[in-house]
Amino acid sequence: MQDGNVIHFISKIENIDFKESLEILAEKAGITLPVLENGIDNKKQLLKEKVYEINKEAALYYHQTLYKDISKSAQEYVKKRKLDNKTLKAYTIGYAPINSNLYKILKEKGFTDEEILASDLVNKVGNNFVDRFKNRLIFPIQDVRNRYIAFGGRVLDNSLPKYINSPENIVYSKARNLYGLNVAKNSKLEKLIIVEGYMDVVSLHQRGIENVVASCGTALTEAQGRLLRKYAEKVIISYDSDAAGQAATLRGLEILTNLGCDIRVLQMDGAKDPDEYVIKYGNARFENLVEKAISLIEFKIKVLKKDLDLNNVNDKIKFLNEIAKLVSTIDNRMEQEVYIDKISREYDISKEAIYAEINKLNYSKNQGKKILENNYRSSTIIKKKEVTLPETLVKRENMIIGILLNGKTKVYEKIKDILLPEDFKKEENKKIMQKLYEEFEKGNSNINNILEIFNDNEEIISILTGIMADDYEIKDDKKAIEDLINNYKKEKLISRKKEIIDILNNENIDKQKVINLEKELHDVIIELAQIK
Ligand code: GTP
Ligand code: MN
Repeated sequence: MQDGNVIHFISKIENIDFKESLEILAEKAGITLPVLENGIDNKKQLLKEKVYEINKEAALYYHQTLYKDISKSAQEYVKKRKLDNKTLKAYTIGYAPINSNLYKILKEKGFTDEEILASDLVNKVGNNFVDRFKNRLIFPIQDVRNRYIAFGGRVLDNSLPKYINSPENIVYSKARNLYGLNVAKNSKLEKLIIVEGYMDVVSLHQRGIENVVASCGTALTEAQGRLLRKYAEKVIISYDSDAAGQAATLRGLEILTNLGCDIRVLQMDGAKDPDEYVIKYGNARFENLVEKAISLIEFKIKVLKKDLDLNNVNDKIKFLNEIAKLVSTIDNRMEQEVYIDKISREYDISKEAIYAEINKLNYSKNQGKKILENNYRSSTIIKKKEVTLPETLVKRENMIIGILLNGKTKVYEKIKDILLPEDFKKEENKKIMQKLYEEFEKGNSNINNILEIFNDNEEIISILTGIMADDYEIKDDKKAIEDLINNYKKEKLISRKKEIIDILNNENIDKQKVINLEKELHDVIIELAQIK
């Protein structure tokens, strides 16, 4: 195996990235990887190494202390929280005794004052060195390389503050780490569950749910989001069910969604946090909640619904409005339909009502655009002194005239009920169609000298000769006519749709009429879908 392969192999089995694997290999081989050839950086690097060592010593000291006779109160607390020995070992959970004197221990191991203070485990108060953690249950925080980087310390009773945590320092960046990732990364990581607290991580892990990490009470950061994404395709947020937890959920969701994570929210009833839930109801039910976790949009709708009374008309309108806004942010049509289906069932709202609301939204959006376009166009009209119709529209009208002149009565019979001369936008074309329809209606199928009919109108003659000279490359007259008819039908339906929406939107109409219009709208939408 070549070196490159070894590195990839390690990064695969250890579930860490390339650079980290390289560092591990170098460590094993006793090689120092080139750091910046800068004295200051080198010194900082050495200090960091020392702090990692100190943290490890401290974690082991706290952990061993937990099993000693002097730690009865902590042992009782751990029992009360139902933590078993395997869990205590897996997370190196420990206890800092009341009279803890880390300074002495660390000095005996040969660490300097500067190094000890850099770990933030000991503070200098006057001339004394005092432990940060005393009489607390200790949760060491490890990075993905299992280095000890910080600590959380919990009181054994209800006193405050409940937790004391290490401050940020030379080895610890709160925003860049997740508690428990070093353990979780050893499990199958199709999904990662993110919780708020240390206790939630260890409690779930003990009950077989091993893919759990904690953001430790602070709002999820982008760096943590990237870390999550690096290790798992799907992320499940399972924060506390209180208001603060739900607010943090929303923020976390936004961050993870923006990072392109497949992110779901776990909904929990009957317990304040995952630890309490899994103790009360067991792992199977928690896993069931994981399976049923909902998306950002569903979560937002749920939050919205909380403050609304759907029996109240105003609230219902507001609710529909927000649903439409949220659903229309989904690009994928299929996905959109799935959501609408789900929402319709869950909140007992008809799908048509949701579609109508989305159409309204699209309509007003397009209206805004149109007004802009129209303003733009009218200013160009003033300059050009003429209305310019879209080229494709004129071309299509010309084509219809061409086919009509070609197929005569046969074509006329087919299109006369669907295509009226008024439908033609170009003035001259309208006139031509009127005249042609008049002649066909009179039974004059022999319009050989069509040009004669218009012989007093030079402009029309020039258009007609243009049309007759044009080759539209139509191979199948029948098919072409069908397509053209469909197009016109579609346009008519679209404009009717807009009309209905407009009426529904702007006019004070009675309930029955609303119902009728909504039904018509529904039919129009279905007919449109059939044409497409
Ligand atoms: P238990 O209450 O023992 O179940 O712990 P928990 O881990 O469930 O904690 P909780 O849900 O109350 O808080 C979530 C996380 O926020 C904790 O794990 C801590 O990281 C952090 N935290 C909680 N309380 C405090 C505090 O008083 N100070 C600080 N700095 N952090 C806290
Ligand atoms: Mn808790």
